[in-house]
Amino acid sequence: MDHKRILVTAALPYANGPVHIGHLAGCYLPADIYVRYQRAQKRDVQFVCGSDEHGVPITIRAMKEGITPQQVVDKYNTIIKDSFAEMGISFDIYSRTSNATHHATAQAFFKKLYDDGAFETKETEQYFDEEKKVFLADRYIVGTCPVCSNTNAYGDQCEKCGSTLSPEQLISPRSALSNAPLVKKPTTHWYFPLNKYEAFLKEWIVEGKKEEWKANVYGQCKSWLDSGLQPRAMTRDSNWGVPVPIDGADGKVLYVWFDAPIGYISATKELTPNWADYWQKEDTKLVHFIGKDNIVFHCIIFPAMLKAHGGFVLPDNVPANEFLNIEGEKVSTSRNWAVWVNEYLKDFPEQQDILRYVLCANAPETKDNDFTWKDFQTRNNSELVDKLGNYINRVMVLSHKLCAGKVPKWHESVADEQDKNLVEEIRLAKGKVENNIESYKFRDGLFEIIELSRKGNVYLQEKAPWKEASAIEKGVFNDEEKIKAQQRIDNCLYLALQLTANLAILSNPFIPFTAKKICSLVKVVDRILDWENAGKIDLLKMGYSLRPPELLFRKIEDSEIEAQMNKLKEGLVASVQAQELAKPEAPKLEDQMQELKPEISIDDFNKIDLRTGTIISAQKVEKADKLLQLEIDLGFEKRTVLSGIALHFSPEEIIGKQVVVVANLAARKMRGIESKGMIMMAENAEGKLEFVSPENIVNNGASVK
Ligand code: MF3
Ligand code: ZN
Repeated sequence: MDHKRILVTAALPYANGPVHIGHLAGCYLPADIYVRYQRAQKRDVQFVCGSDEHGVPITIRAMKEGITPQQVVDKYNTIIKDSFAEMGISFDIYSRTSNATHHATAQAFFKKLYDDGAFETKETEQYFDEEKKVFLADRYIVGTCPVCSNTNAYGDQCEKCGSTLSPEQLISPRSALSNAPLVKKPTTHWYFPLNKYEAFLKEWIVEGKKEEWKANVYGQCKSWLDSGLQPRAMTRDSNWGVPVPIDGADGKVLYVWFDAPIGYISATKELTPNWADYWQKEDTKLVHFIGKDNIVFHCIIFPAMLKAHGGFVLPDNVPANEFLNIEGEKVSTSRNWAVWVNEYLKDFPEQQDILRYVLCANAPETKDNDFTWKDFQTRNNSELVDKLGNYINRVMVLSHKLCAGKVPKWHESVADEQDKNLVEEIRLAKGKVENNIESYKFRDGLFEIIELSRKGNVYLQEKAPWKEASAIEKGVFNDEEKIKAQQRIDNCLYLALQLTANLAILSNPFIPFTAKKICSLVKVVDRILDWENAGKIDLLKMGYSLRPPELLFRKIEDSEIEAQMNKLKEGLVASVQAQELAKPEAPKLEDQMQELKPEISIDDFNKIDLRTGTIISAQKVEKADKLLQLEIDLGFEKRTVLSGIALHFSPEEIIGKQVVVVANLAARKMRGIESKGMIMMAENAEGKLEFVSPENIVNNGASVK
């Protein structure tokens, strides 16, 4: 279909913390590149986003910081909004779901579905805090973990041992709000019967969008649809959120994943009186940029809601990215393992484009990817500085030296093969970058731009106008040859300057701060950045004067990278220490003393032969949950030892570990396998086992005394 207008949305971030570079790489940066490109194409495009200010994540944060949910969202909405603005994420509007327009829009949407009989109600028993008189979300229920006995496990998860839990599994559950024991009470909620939309979704996605959508997105949708959809509660018992707009629903709010995507509609309403065109006219192209954890909400639930409501367009595409890890490890906000955008901006002022460049070049478009500071430095120094920056700087310096700082004349009569090739490369680059952006392959698009600057460098090197100039100076040419040589110099710099202008146009969606600087160097107004100008070689007219050369990028030093690595590590250590402090006290020393076994003599002890050994293989034992079968190299021989540690370690993580073995323990058969020896372990306060190992590797078979 021919689209008349484009509406681009970027996932509304929860206003419960600052944004990190994983958010940028996953969603906001690709969305911004896409939108900047569409604007340069002079297409009718709107870019909407805002803070997601409801839901449990916000109330949890309020509880942790001891402030109200409103204070939480006010604080983080500002931080997030400022970070985006400074990074050049060019939303047409950045709104908030706590504002009146949104509340009214979300309520009207719900009401329409309600009036049409789209919901089913269901009564269930849920935990209730008698003291605070509120139903509790799973996160607000604390109790003892049935797996590790942590007394502060949450109703959805134990943060000590990582087990996923339901409130029913907690031993002696209590309220996190009041500490009061809990009672169960019936509560009624409105369920949206997703199962009724299965056929519609299958036709739309499986038959319709399969070819267009990214494989990761399509794959997730397919597996949701294959496993069958269930009705989903669209209301919650809470006092933070959009109140359910029907009688008898006091104390109930809309489920955050019901109201948040409607936030896209509310934001468009605030942005333009023509909002309905963008949402309700068939020839709108709606594109949702999100991270992979949001796929089901944008591809299944929200489209089903829109369909149930009727009259809305459905997304044309949902180009979700995978996750960006940091230095090989998953981002963890609770462990502070993240690079925060507001921190980056403080440490690298005015260097937005380096981050934009690196995050795009390394974007997790098809699989999870890794951000490392080393790679940040390398990409900056060898691509931005050495290729793009170097090319433009050479062109500027040479134009001042050899062409009086002005755009020279083009002389068709002396144009050669190399010139024609470069003209062709410039023309082709436009199409390549364009196709890549249109098909959401931003990395490939960016690569083409760097590739074009590399070709520019090669062209300058081959033409070597400085050699012609020195030949003229040395008087090796006769008059006629001299004129021709100067004409060849002119042509070279003429084309090199046109390429420079093209680089500004093509790179503008990706690194807009740099594109602007290039425009300023060649003294043209931003209008030259219109996409229709890409591919042309008459952008800078003869006689235009140029500004003096100025470097576009600077090298990143090793010391800057070290500082960032230290910052990451220190953040991690500080957060682990803070968590240690918050932990319940370890059992008292006296309690441990009391469990001492009866005294033995040194002769008793000497009967035990302790040796060092290395685990050379490990595997699970069939039908025995707790046992691992290990092969241990004791230096003088290899032994099979069965060890009851399978719940604590995976086989892969212990291979290669050096351990201490009771080497003269009588052999014993378990599950048909003979075990000869025992591995020494220490148990921490939470019952987690650790190996007793020599601090530095020693010979296998060394005795331990
Ligand atoms: N706040 C959600 C998150 O950060 C995203 C909401 S996207 C919207 O995962 F569509 F619901 F707005
Ligand atoms: Zn636990």
